[in-house]
Amino acid sequence: MKIAETSNDKLDSLLARCHHSMIAMNESEVENAHWPQRKINLRYLEKVNNPHSIHGIYPYRGKMSAIDAAHVISQLVPNSRLLDPFCGTGTIIYEAQLRGLQVTGVDNNPLACIIARGKTEPIDKEFTLTHLEYSIEKAHTLSYVPPMPTAPAEYFHETTAEQIMRILSVSDSFSPFLLACFYGAICLAARACNGWLWTSTSIGKINPPLREIDFFSTLFRKVRKHIDFVKGTPLVKIHSYDARAINEIVPSNSIDVVYTSPPYFDALDYTGYYTKLVMEILGIDRNQIRDGLIQRYSTYEKDMREALLALDQVVHNKSIIIFVVGNRMVHGKLVRGSDFFSKIAPWAEPYVVEREYTKTASGLWDRINATRRKEQVVVWDLGLRGRK
Ligand SMILES: C[S@@+](CC[C@H](N)C(=O)[O-])C[C@H]1O[C@@H](n2cnc3c(N)ncnc32)[C@H](O)[C@@H]1O
Repeated sequence: MKIAETSNDKLDSLLARCHHSMIAMNESEVENAHWPQRKINLRYLEKVNNPHSIHGIYPYRGKMSAIDAAHVISQLVPNSRLLDPFCGTGTIIYEAQLRGLQVTGVDNNPLACIIARGKTEPIDKEFTLTHLEYSIEKAHTLSYVPPMPTAPAEYFHETTAEQIMRILSVSDSFSPFLLACFYGAICLAARACNGWLWTSTSIGKINPPLREIDFFSTLFRKVRKHIDFVKGTPLVKIHSYDARAINEIVPSNSIDVVYTSPPYFDALDYTGYYTKLVMEILGIDRNQIRDGLIQRYSTYEKDMREALLALDQVVHNKSIIIFVVGNRMVHGKLVRGSDFFSKIAPWAEPYVVEREYTKTASGLWDRINATRRKEQVVVWDLGLRGRK
């Protein structure tokens, strides 16, 4: 049975919109001391998601709007040295690379780093396609493959599960791009086996009878869909590392722009969601990875202070630092992201632009749930305001 690509597109697009679409409420400009003649404009955004891009390669939790990222980055000077200390699957990194910046990404979730590398490392397209064909052929003819572990196997038709394990058995030679497509195809196949009924809130709900999905063609289509978007350049470095010790791997005073969406303080689990499924199939101990991430209520402030102090060592005194944060309920109390970060950051008087979900799919989600979520873009301009 084949997966209709249109369903994939719709779901990719819906998923991305549900999580990340934001509309800016007001139009504002922030003076940029590093390039005094320039301004960073955080204006109203009509459209936040582009399904025809590389960013649908994997449905990572907390992925940010690529259109928003591109809008900010297009205003930065090419060649600037940009750091995303919580880069996840590399939305900012990819968009910055496209625009000629020198980019460093850091994330302590190795799976996210593989996806980020897959989007940004140079590849030979012809070789990649030939290698994929050869690998599928080889996977097909293996006389034995280990069964899928019991927990993830529940979500797949048994034929699909076996095909996934066949690809896993030959994936040692895959480039990060092929790995990213492989992991993304696992997520697509899980949704498809369950009749495409999974949304952000119903992931993991088994919908029998499980449909048989041809995993080999799902993977092949995914690779074909994304390969032309890879514009790899050697100007990107991605490290699987703890941002609280970023000063150990990024040289002091070497970063002109920090641009990031940090982990949320409502303890969003970046090893959960589809990543749980993929990690279980790969035999990765997600508890161990989760232990290295900032996502516990009780230590969030301490952890984040540590990360900000480490960041402070790698920026210089004309750097600009941009954090995209949100409002969250913590123990029944609403915490405004920009207030929290203004309080704990070592930098003085940030400029803040607040945005909210309005007419998008996320706005609909808000209406249904009687919520009114907000996000803020917090900008510290060290050249203008300096440190505290
Ligand atoms: C909001 S997500 C970033 C998503 C990213 N902008 C994207 O589009 O994919 C926050 C990221 O912070 C990472 N993270 C959490 N704690 C970390 C730590 N101590 N060091 C480095 N990264 C960490 C998580 O793994 C997660 O990928």
